[in-house]
Amino acid sequence: MILSETIEKVIETARVEEVVGDFVVLKKRGANYTGLCPFHNEKTPSFSVNVAKGIYKCFGCGAGGDSLKFIIEHEKLSFPDAIRFLAKKYNIEIQETAIGEQELVVQQEKESLWLVNAFARDWFKEQMWESETGRTIGLSYFRERGFSDETIRQFHLGYHPDGYDNFTTAATKAGYKIEFLVKVGLTIDKDGKYYDRFRGRVMFPIQNVAGKVVGFGGRIMTNDKKQAKYVNSPESEVYIKSNVLYGIELARKEAVGKDEIYLVEGYTDVVSLHQAGITNVVASSGTSLTDGQISVIRRYTSNVTVLYDGDAAGIKASFRGIDMIIEQGLNVKVLLFPDGEDPDSFARKNTPLYVSDYIKKEANSFIAFKAGLLMEETGDDPIKKAGVIKELVHSISLIPDNIMRSLYIKECSRITQMDEESLIIELNNQIRNKSKSKHSVAEMLREQNISVEKTLSETELEVNDDNLLALHEREIVRILVNFANLLFEMDHIDEQGEKQTVTIRVGDFVLHQLKDDDISFTQSAYQEIVVLYQNRGEQNFPALSELIHHQNQEIGQVSIDLSLQRHNLSEQWKDKYEILIRTEKDHLQKTVLSAVYNIKLRKVNALLHANNIKLQTANSDDEFHTILSEQIWLNEVKQALSKQLHFVIL
Ligand code: CTP
Ligand code: MN
Repeated sequence: MILSETIEKVIETARVEEVVGDFVVLKKRGANYTGLCPFHNEKTPSFSVNVAKGIYKCFGCGAGGDSLKFIIEHEKLSFPDAIRFLAKKYNIEIQETAIGEQELVVQQEKESLWLVNAFARDWFKEQMWESETGRTIGLSYFRERGFSDETIRQFHLGYHPDGYDNFTTAATKAGYKIEFLVKVGLTIDKDGKYYDRFRGRVMFPIQNVAGKVVGFGGRIMTNDKKQAKYVNSPESEVYIKSNVLYGIELARKEAVGKDEIYLVEGYTDVVSLHQAGITNVVASSGTSLTDGQISVIRRYTSNVTVLYDGDAAGIKASFRGIDMIIEQGLNVKVLLFPDGEDPDSFARKNTPLYVSDYIKKEANSFIAFKAGLLMEETGDDPIKKAGVIKELVHSISLIPDNIMRSLYIKECSRITQMDEESLIIELNNQIRNKSKSKHSVAEMLREQNISVEKTLSETELEVNDDNLLALHEREIVRILVNFANLLFEMDHIDEQGEKQTVTIRVGDFVLHQLKDDDISFTQSAYQEIVVLYQNRGEQNFPALSELIHHQNQEIGQVSIDLSLQRHNLSEQWKDKYEILIRTEKDHLQKTVLSAVYNIKLRKVNALLHANNIKLQTANSDDEFHTILSEQIWLNEVKQALSKQLHFVIL
């Protein structure tokens, strides 16, 4: 368990603009930042980071939270892992309660698998650097390939000794359960006999974005064509291959900064390019490129350059990959290395400067690349040429964005010398055929990750009585979340009939008023928040971060929404909400009082309504009169409240 002091320190230290800025290109806008939301696909920024409040919020899809929540959602980490992630970023030492043997057993399985992999990585490193065989076989293999010691250490490369079960024995001796060794695939269970999977190979640990080791690639050190060049970890609970990119942990920062990422095929390509100073590079290693991997890339940048071997297999892989990348709305460039070269060999033969220049110069737009390759074979054959053009237009039809599509049509026209109009007709045909079967609006929204309910509730058009009540409840909660600790001045008439001004804390006043009239809320999340404030009492109201990470996720969502947006803000107010809130602070009395009077009015109205029904079913004169006098009294209260409200509003 991580100690709460550590958690608090992390939350205090992690600045939202820095944490989010590692993943999203942010533009400064006044005191705040905006950018393209990483949680849904968008072309114009509706994602905003509020520095003063330490929170982010997307006005498009509704995602919101503080820096910790961002890491949890974006990197798909658990709460403790997100804390560890941020602690690492800010060099905060993590204090944990000691893990006893008991706890080790109960610890979540995933944690155990990560621990096993981390142990293995360190053990392979130790074998390589510290043992004689490791140095002469493993380390020298890497050195001969041109990897510097620094590079070898940076990628945690290691050596798995030959033999039957050296690793398995060492790991079990160190206390790791055989069950977990088998689960991550380091050990193979053959009818109850356990042996090492990666015997006699050099090891490339594969890390996820958080730096956790999820699996390994092990390469033989010979050119023996009879053996598989690589053996890879099987899929496991911690290694979902379709979502993992080799090198992502080291690449993502640079990918955001350069707003571009290079996609290569192999482990060694990543390592070599890194050594040549090109660090925004990842490999889809071990699998052909998947949609999941492209989604991972999309979190960091929308510009991908594919660097593949110039052989037939490389080209084929690139065609498939390109279409998949385009379909996710990313921009693709392609670079094939000269035949027989891959990024690794190329980076070793040339200077770093030459390599990066070469990539920049030679990378082609996907359309030019594809056209170039396909047209080589067509010659003057018109039928073949038509086929190629259809194929090119097909790729263009996959681009989700209209403007991008027409730009590519232009380029395609230039390259193929085919007039634009014909290309557009072909494009429209292909799009029409494709979309026939699809898409309701709701489906499209859902595909773009925009919550249908969110979009509707944001407009809040139908204000019937229930909605009105909810709106007033929401306003009270908004005031608590934003202003509970502020003081405001209130005029009141004392017993002598003199007008007095008193200074009161907003939270205390609101809570008192609710309590006095025994008002509870119909919306459970609002009610829960109010209770949180009530339980905490004066001067110790919950901080926003506490609400954001409340067990009940709805509470977090509501708090974010309310702390950044007035309930009835329309789109055009988006940029101005800060100003609104600021001026609102100057008129706290008005804001607070009208909210309190409104909610009371609702309550009185409800009572009046209930009373009215009772009145009609009264059994005796006595009962009738009691109810009637109550009714009259309620009406008076209503009048008074209305008057006060009127007075406050004016
Ligand atoms: N690969 C694999 N199994 C194999 C061959 C390849 O899993 N038998 C995967 C590895 O992830 C490898 C990638 O495909 O990194 C690209 O293959 P290749 O270009 O052959 O390997 P490199 O990593 O470039 O290795 P080297 O430079 O040593 O040839
Ligand atoms: Mn290769």
